[in-house]
Amino acid sequence: MEGKLSRAAKKLTSSPIQELSQLAQRCNAINLAEGFPDFPAPLHIKNAAVSAINSDFNQYRHVQGICDHVSKMVKEMHGLVIDPLTDVAICCGQTEAFAAAIFATIDPGDEVILFDPSFETYEGCITMAGGIPVHVPLDPPRWTLDPSKLLSSLTERTKAIVLNSPHNPTGKVFTNDELETIAGACCSRNCLAITDEVYEYITYDNEKHMSLASFPGMLERTIITSSLSKTFSVTGWRIGWAIAPSFFASAIRNIHAKVTDSAPAPFQEAALTALRSPPEYYESLRSDYQSKRDYIIKLLAGVGFKIQFIPQGSFFLFAELPDDYPHSDVEFVKKLILEAGVVAVPGQGFFRSNLSLNEVSNASCYYQRRYIRFAFCKSDETLAAVSERLSKLLDAAGHLKLH
Ligand SMILES: Cc1ncc(COP(=O)(O)O)c(C=O)c1O
Repeated sequence: MEGKLSRAAKKLTSSPIQELSQLAQRCNAINLAEGFPDFPAPLHIKNAAVSAINSDFNQYRHVQGICDHVSKMVKEMHGLVIDPLTDVAICCGQTEAFAAAIFATIDPGDEVILFDPSFETYEGCITMAGGIPVHVPLDPPRWTLDPSKLLSSLTERTKAIVLNSPHNPTGKVFTNDELETIAGACCSRNCLAITDEVYEYITYDNEKHMSLASFPGMLERTIITSSLSKTFSVTGWRIGWAIAPSFFASAIRNIHAKVTDSAPAPFQEAALTALRSPPEYYESLRSDYQSKRDYIIKLLAGVGFKIQFIPQGSFFLFAELPDDYPHSDVEFVKKLILEAGVVAVPGQGFFRSNLSLNEVSNASCYYQRRYIRFAFCKSDETLAAVSERLSKLLDAAGHLKLH
């Protein structure tokens, strides 16, 4: 009966990364792989969720107050004027908001630009909708967008450009010039932008998140997606949203209603409390993550990783293997799990999946096998335990020695 699987299901096979996850579980490895915090969520929002459950918010629900808050937030942060009654769709996390945005806009054969590397769920959604992902490489080590690479990838069939900033896996925050380039491409080629802004509040040093929708001509052609997950350390609550011109938002709401009906009622209620958090909450979120970032950079640079790009946002460090390390990223992570009891993600999972064998061995793609993504959204105790485990595996020069 396996032959009865749909074409889409057959394309979505498990990756080497999922296999590594299982190995990591068996070895009880410390998890720096997955992008979710291992520390408690803020008390004020947990109390709000408990209170919502106790108040019997148990049925299908649409909490309009979320749309009102989100509208206020994008006005304050980016100067965007949107109608909370028509331009916001509440979904189950950014993941569903993004999938619904793709299904609302992409027809079979439409091309969708993805920057490479990128968060792995985009490609799967686009192919499920029959769209064709077109990858535009960001250039290491600073993951710079070369305008000519973007412009030469646009065709008559380009329907949308997907932008994630602050960026997973590199920690890049796209610059004003880069955003202007993307906005210019969208406007001149009359295509849409679908943005993923889940790390909108997690930026470091003097970096500031700018929404692509705030660039001239972009509000009418941008679908913003985001969620509570990262800002409030509640990735399991599944509350997110899409912000878009009303006809897109309405299509997204219709898809959401057919697929999941509504997001979890008690957590929608608690979202109201979360979104009302005072400015100090966001400031301490940033400064806590900045000190975790500095800690992990010092730790990994100290054991021999090449850190040529300091994350400007999100909570990932995309660290390059030492030049003299002879194996691939996947091999490295396997050894890291078995010998150090720590798991991270081999970078290749974030680069385009349909590389041919020739391309893999080609020198220009070699870097795609040389990065490891470390998630530092972990408690200080977890990060200290990683340091302790790594310290047992150092050679005389203080570099990580994996057999
Ligand atoms: C860039 C990016 N977008 C979206 C998500 C998932 O967001 P949500 O929990 O709101 O579905 C993640 C989670 O790792 C992410 O890194």
